[in-house]
Amino acid sequence: MKNIFCRNKILQTSVPHTAPSDAHRSISKKDVPLIELRDIYKIYHMGDMDVHASDGLSLKIYRGEFVSIVGKSGSGKSTIMNIIGALDIPTSGQYILGGQDVSTMKDDQLAEVRNKTIGFIFQQYNLLPKQNLLENVELPLVYAGVGKKEREQRALKSLEKVGLGDKWRYFPLQLSGGQQQRVSIARALVGNPSLILADEPTGALDSRTSRDVLDFLKQLHDEGNTIVIITHDSSIALEAERVVRIQDGNITFDGSADEYGVIILTCNLKHPEQQDALLSYDAWHYYRRCVRDYSCQPHGKHDGLYF
Ligand SMILES: Nc1ncnc2c1ncn2[C@@H]1O[C@H](COP(=O)(O)OP(=O)(O)O)[C@@H](O)[C@H]1O
Ligand SMILES: [Mg+2]
Repeated sequence: MKNIFCRNKILQTSVPHTAPSDAHRSISKKDVPLIELRDIYKIYHMGDMDVHASDGLSLKIYRGEFVSIVGKSGSGKSTIMNIIGALDIPTSGQYILGGQDVSTMKDDQLAEVRNKTIGFIFQQYNLLPKQNLLENVELPLVYAGVGKKEREQRALKSLEKVGLGDKWRYFPLQLSGGQQQRVSIARALVGNPSLILADEPTGALDSRTSRDVLDFLKQLHDEGNTIVIITHDSSIALEAERVVRIQDGNITFDGSADEYGVIILTCNLKHPEQQDALLSYDAWHYYRRCVRDYSCQPHGKHDGLYF
């Protein structure tokens, strides 16, 4: 028998359509969100079919939050990342970023918002191979019109922050994948952005290097940065403090990482073929934490694991 959980809150938290709620955060509702998506639609016309890549999605993210946006391939993550990152505008709906309405901006205004407000981290690092590390990290400041001397000082400081200050003369391809991702983090940080937006930041890295990058993002969060990670990997998503799951262009879960951990583990236990996922990574640790925080009393034995 696989029905392992009993008399606990798991059933409540595993209701898939959890309404977006501010309750799990200590942030006062009076605070103004840094990001506010209001009823966002992005519709692509494919022949005589309409694809609702974003289907009336609403979301608020406050300053200082660490949020992962998770969902399967095709669920609408990139669509929403492009809108949050001011890389694209919605078909309809409103996007307010730091008090500015981004949803109706023209391309040059969007570029300015991106440059001043957002630090991007991409899966493939997007570093320029013929520029050294300092020049790569300086780039957002070049676009922002910062003078050469200040640019170099700030870029060097940013490289020092990610532990690569002594390698500023190197070129990206002389570094490991993890180091290159750290350079891209340094580039994301150099303009003091209000928001760090990471699209599958560990997608090209092995698990140990992923861990380092995640630890670094956590450190940035502890220092007060607002971080949004897009990922299809639940174990990465759980590293944030809040998880937003997207399916068919809308939100099907919005809650704390602990709540999300309970859901994943419940699913894993119901589907023993995913046992590897349960045993891997920090799943067991999350399980323990969920048990503690939700006072649930799971019991039973499952493939050698006692609950
Ligand atoms: N430029 C586009 N033209 C047509 N359909 C698109 C376009 N971009 C995305 N889509 C569709 O929108 C849906 C969501 O895509 P996407 O946001 O890329 O999902 P994800 O990043 O979660 O994989 C998918 O069905 C995808 O095929
Ligand atoms: Mg995508």
